[in-house]
Amino acid sequence: MKLSQVLYSQGFGVRRECEGLIFAGHVTLDGVVCDDPFHEVDPEGLVFGVRGEPWPYRVKALVLLNKPAGYECSQKPKHHPSVMSLLPPPLRVRGLQPVGRLDEDTTGLLLMTDDGALIHRLTSPKKHVPKVYEIEAIDPVTEAQIDELLRGVVLHDDPLPVRAAAAEKTGEHTLRLTLLEGKYHQVKRMLAATGNTVNKLHRSSYGVLTLPDDLAPGKWRWLSGPEAVLGTP
Ligand code: URA
Repeated sequence: MKLSQVLYSQGFGVRRECEGLIFAGHVTLDGVVCDDPFHEVDPEGLVFGVRGEPWPYRVKALVLLNKPAGYECSQKPKHHPSVMSLLPPPLRVRGLQPVGRLDEDTTGLLLMTDDGALIHRLTSPKKHVPKVYEIEAIDPVTEAQIDELLRGVVLHDDPLPVRAAAAEKTGEHTLRLTLLEGKYHQVKRMLAATGNTVNKLHRSSYGVLTLPDDLAPGKWRWLSGPEAVLGTP
């Protein structure tokens, strides 16, 4: 594959922009400037540099974002900036989208990808991908509320009760909930059904993946592929 095609495929702009970056000496291969846009490279496993930043070649991009509060998951946000604005331009050009949605005031682990089939796989109700939420509640958390969450609560739009796969009290006002679905405002509505109210909501885990301690809010990281989320097939 030609170097300019590699850059184009990874979201660095239209072909002339990619060629311009290369001609200007902004692109490196193995740390050495390559100013020939037609230079042939094997994209498999390639890590190239653009303006000093390393970029792994990926047919489909999959990243993990530590979502801060105050960002909307919508592509057309109404009141706050979109989570897309936290990604660098090449990933925005590639059209990465959130895998499911977190509310504007929810923080924590958010996956983003341009792989539509993977989004479908991860969000399909049949897949039962576990998601772990750390919740701070307004009122003290009671064992009766934990029991209710485990037995199942009825949400208004759904005649069948929705159960937490796991629920544990972690403090006077805090609990940890594991859900297998991803219904609209599910955590907030489930807690409300028990008579309590979510004050703060944070997603700490998705599938087998846990939010890394060293990833600051607003920062993102590459994931190797779906197995980083789903475990080995
Ligand atoms: N449940 C909610 O209520 N909000 C979220 O952001 C995620 C799960």
